[in-house]
Amino acid sequence: MSDRSATVSVREARDGDLQAVAELHVAAFPESVLGQLGVEAVRRNYVWQLHGPHDVTALVAELGGRPVGFLFGGVFRGSTIGFVKSQKFFLAGQVLRHPKVLVDRIGLDRVRLALRLVSSRWSTPAPEVPDAVPRSSFGVLAIAVDPAVQGHGVGRELMASASAAATAEGFEAMHLSVHPDNLQAVSFYESLGWRRTPEEDGGWVGRMRIALESPEPGVATGEDSEAALAQHPLDQTDDRD
Ligand SMILES: CC(C)(COP(=O)(O)OP(=O)(O)OC[C@H]1O[C@@H](n2cnc3c(N)ncnc32)[C@H](O)[C@@H]1OP(=O)(O)O)[C@@H](O)C(=O)NCCC(=O)NCCS
Repeated sequence: MSDRSATVSVREARDGDLQAVAELHVAAFPESVLGQLGVEAVRRNYVWQLHGPHDVTALVAELGGRPVGFLFGGVFRGSTIGFVKSQKFFLAGQVLRHPKVLVDRIGLDRVRLALRLVSSRWSTPAPEVPDAVPRSSFGVLAIAVDPAVQGHGVGRELMASASAAATAEGFEAMHLSVHPDNLQAVSFYESLGWRRTPEEDGGWVGRMRIALESPEPGVATGEDSEAALAQHPLDQTDDRD
């Protein structure tokens, strides 16, 4: 940790943080589809991530008592679809107000797919971990830092806290999905020891992973987890930026 990060503190996120989380999301992901639907759409998304049927670790980083970053991770069950279903009327209104954003950014095929999913019958979604992925992997759904303080160690502190929480909860590894063109984020993850997870054809579409050390001697982690993960390409979060 650099000296500049000495005053960073990380704590669990609460309901009262979600407005700040949404504003940070919009600032850090100015091009994201969700962000272009407005801060309120983003806030409602994080309400769903905090209170939906997930096993979530939600963290906020503060600098001088001000929220400057956040991380949401864990095991998510319908992080996007559940949100869309729970907010379908609100989102329909936002889409009507911003139709070009969705058509331009997502494409008509995905809009049609989303509409089909929204209109399908509600059921408790399954964890967003494909059968081929070990259940013991903690997914990082979102991490973002205020652009004004990026590069000052806040992201590192958030990831360290998430890793500690995941280890304490018995997870053997962590995984995430990043847009391959997001070189800043890819460099960030690689500097922390994350590795790219290749697809079967040897290509890379943004999946990354890291093995966690077990806090207890004799519990399989490290290379065991790494080997298991190498055999099983990891889950992909569904609104990557
Ligand atoms: C990616 C992000 C979370 C990193 O947080 P951050 O607070 O800026 O990162 P840190 O200052 O903790 O950097 C930790 C290490 O990552 C690497 N790193 C960070 N930013 C980097 C950059 N722009 N280029 C290269 N390496 C970088 C460095 O090795 C750094 O260590 P150092 O400071 O000792 O050199 C932040 O930049 C961000 O919010 N980006 C926009 C949102 C985003 O892309 N999120 C990830 C989506 S998958």
